[in-house]
Amino acid sequence: MKRIAVLTSGGDAPGMNAAIRAVVRTGLAKGWDVLGVRCGYAGLISGDIFTLGARDVGGIIQRGGTILGSARCLEFQTGQGRLAALSQLHQHGIEALVVIGGNGSQTGAHALSELDFPVVGVASTIDNDLYGSDITIGVDTALNVSLEAIDRLKVTASSHRRAFLVEVMGHKCGYLALMAAIAGGAEAVIIPEEETDPEAVATELRAAYGNGKAHAIVVVAEGARYNAEGMAQHFKTHQERLGFELRVTRLGHVQRGGAPGSFDRLLGTNLGAAATDQLVIGEHGVLIGLLKGEIAATPLAEVVANRKSLDLRPLRLARILAQ
Ligand code: F6P
Repeated sequence: MKRIAVLTSGGDAPGMNAAIRAVVRTGLAKGWDVLGVRCGYAGLISGDIFTLGARDVGGIIQRGGTILGSARCLEFQTGQGRLAALSQLHQHGIEALVVIGGNGSQTGAHALSELDFPVVGVASTIDNDLYGSDITIGVDTALNVSLEAIDRLKVTASSHRRAFLVEVMGHKCGYLALMAAIAGGAEAVIIPEEETDPEAVATELRAAYGNGKAHAIVVVAEGARYNAEGMAQHFKTHQERLGFELRVTRLGHVQRGGAPGSFDRLLGTNLGAAATDQLVIGEHGVLIGLLKGEIAATPLAEVVANRKSLDLRPLRLARILAQ
């Protein structure tokens, strides 16, 4: 192996920069040339590819986002787009590609490896919904950002005896919402994996006031059937009967923009370094992730064919702890 490239794709995640830095510096230490691709698969198709040196990745480990830029590229989902990308890889003399990203990005990585191009994926998404890694780059920081918001909302909610609903990201997965609800001491949680209707939530909130609480916090996952919009609508329509108002805060992209904490810096570093080691072994077409506390390589074919399921046991715990 002489010449590799690295790209970040899909939603940016805090810790991606640590992974880029690790890929570049461990690649250079192996005596390789390392190139960066701007804006994910879009940059691969257009040939926006440049050489990266050790200094180019200096001072980035503490920064959120991705210095390479990212994109959701529809063109790469077509056969023509993929062939254009492959042609750019060949033109630049690139022998292997490291793809840092989540489900959509690893689907693209798998497609390239199906075209016989050596690819290694690195598990990165704040959603924690990627098969092949128990935890992905960005989750921990996004969770901490959510907690900071929930803690602050609780302060003002307690002062006014108000009920607040906080919507967190997670695509179709309830992991972020569930963990934020437990760690933030919320009174109720709504996730896509287990339907909860607004009336059941109202009962939980009433119980919180009944138990002498001065606040009532609901955490809802954006992918739930009754997300912030659905809940707000129901509570507004039935406010008189339900007996209280529900104020809504959508955290949205604020969660993705945080500076990575120590966990994501170390996870990004370890997974990025393991990706170049994987290229040395010569076994590609795999995703590098963390399974049972160990770095593990899972075939991309397996990653894209499976959906990671959410462990629902913490949901029962969340309800017990909310009393
Ligand atoms: O996959 C990460 C994520 O932040 C999801 O939680 C969210 O649904 C989505 O990306 C938002 O995508 P975009 O940034 O393209 O609006």
